[in-house]
Amino acid sequence: MNGPETTSIERRGVLTWLIRGFLAIWALGAGVLGISFLKAPSSEKRPGERQLRCGSFSTLAIGEARLVRHGAEPLFVVRVSDSQVTAVSAVCTHLRCVLKWDGDKGTFQCPCHNGAFDRAGIVLSGPPKKPLPQYPAEVRADEIIVHT
Ligand code: FES
Repeated sequence: MNGPETTSIERRGVLTWLIRGFLAIWALGAGVLGISFLKAPSSEKRPGERQLRCGSFSTLAIGEARLVRHGAEPLFVVRVSDSQVTAVSAVCTHLRCVLKWDGDKGTFQCPCHNGAFDRAGIVLSGPPKKPLPQYPAEVRADEIIVHT
């Protein structure tokens, strides 16, 4: 028998399965979103970030700086204590000359127009108006790592 009641029951069954399927897919999506929200972001590396290996930490004396070649953006790593290192750009903020480290004064000197910066990249004298950009730096197993 294939009367109007049977057709109505079949339609109701199909509709019920469609709704259940939709809810299952929605619940799966919500679950994936919830898990990705709760998952801690990786502290190792951010998207687009590059980790630059800058040599041995123990061979860099406290208060000294090391020039690290890095394409058009060389940088200096500076050992500031027994366990800490900082990194600043080696490119002068005036007209982009590459700076030199003056170990006697403990400053970065620009050979082009005598600009000077301290170890933290703050302008001490000369035409530069802006400080040197800084980069996050860390020490891992005696190796200096700079995040660029
Ligand atoms: S480029 Fe460095 S002071 Fe001018």
